[in-house]
Amino acid sequence: MTIGVRKEVAAGEKRVAIVPEHVPTLSKLGAGVLVERGAGKASGIPDQAYEQKGAQIGDRKSVFERSDLICAVRFAAAAGEAGTEEAGQVREGATVLGFLEPYASHETFSTLGRRGASALAMEKMPRITRAQSMDALSSMANLAGYKAALLAADALPKMFPMMMTAAGTIVQARVFIVGVGVAGLQAIATAKRLGAVVSAYDIRPAVKEQVESLGARFVEMELETEQAEGKGGYARQMDEAFYRKQRELMSTLLAESDAVITTAAVPGKPAPTLVTAEMLKGMKPGSVIVDLAAERGGNCEVSQAGQTVVEHGVTVIGPENVASSLAHNASHLYSRNVTSLVEALADEGTLSLDPEDEIVDATLVLHRGTVRDEVIRSGEQS
Ligand code: NAI
Repeated sequence: MTIGVRKEVAAGEKRVAIVPEHVPTLSKLGAGVLVERGAGKASGIPDQAYEQKGAQIGDRKSVFERSDLICAVRFAAAAGEAGTEEAGQVREGATVLGFLEPYASHETFSTLGRRGASALAMEKMPRITRAQSMDALSSMANLAGYKAALLAADALPKMFPMMMTAAGTIVQARVFIVGVGVAGLQAIATAKRLGAVVSAYDIRPAVKEQVESLGARFVEMELETEQAEGKGGYARQMDEAFYRKQRELMSTLLAESDAVITTAAVPGKPAPTLVTAEMLKGMKPGSVIVDLAAERGGNCEVSQAGQTVVEHGVTVIGPENVASSLAHNASHLYSRNVTSLVEALADEGTLSLDPEDEIVDATLVLHRGTVRDEVIRSGEQS
């Protein structure tokens, strides 16, 4: 089996799917690793580092022509227009693996389907113990949470920590985190390390203990949240009346905060709007919102993916592909996730895509040319 790694094609994408450190593990499975020239460059990884670990370096054409398995960070819909183009170059019957944005209906799957290809979507990884080392969403969310706290600290015209100086005492900044999944927890930990006073809220009451164990305050709101937790520990989509009440209750907290980091998400659905333009009027001038959900529609009404806007004196940052800005670490973590998956599926030098296997069943969105629609839709919460 030849495992191919091509240079990422999505705009601004700096990560690479496999790092040199994991090439020997893949080789031991009986696979040859073929890497496109310059694929690791944006992550600070030279071609020679791959060669030293036993990988071959080739041009893009040869990667597509020779690979039985293409490992990507972003492929198909997740790679934008370029993703559609390259789908047509995949070798007949080959498998692709990566973030594929399978919820988005996209012609890439039809193109791949016509080539009899198979596709494994990393974002569909089940939350089971055996798949923990393959959970790329969590790896990336961890990095994003860390970076969100840094972005907030950088944009805020105040310091996070308290400081006593001869010229007076600087008081701590107040940071409010909305949505305490993997990213939110890491944002809490980072803001705490930087010295801020941190409070956090999530509709899943189960996270209270985790918030408090990080030394932050869990904000209680009078909201009916019994039904808030769905399959796999994810949040369920609530109705508009719920979100309206949540916005009302959050207004006071926003007014008290210097920086707000929003990470609220519902799988397969647009992010809930939790901060309206009107609510910004009640915030302190100069305060900052970092909206980690900006790519999925945003938790803040005014946020725009990839841009920073200032509205009513509040700076609203909508960072895109945050993990890619920490490409070196992101590539290493992602490569570990991918390598673990390939190890689990490898069978005497080939890839076994048995839908009876729980991991394959959950991630295989295209099987030898047939779109598995039931898998694509299964992550959506009602
Ligand atoms: P996510 O990225 O899907 O969403 C982020 C957070 O937003 C979630 O905690 C969600 O409850 C919250 N949220 C949704 N709507 C909200 C609202 N209206 N207001 C406030 N918060 C709202 O979540 P992520 O990072 O995937 O984590 C979800 C849970 O799954 C966590 O408990 C996490 O620890 C757990 N998890 C379990 C894994 C496993 O079992 N292998 C792996 C990764 C995460």
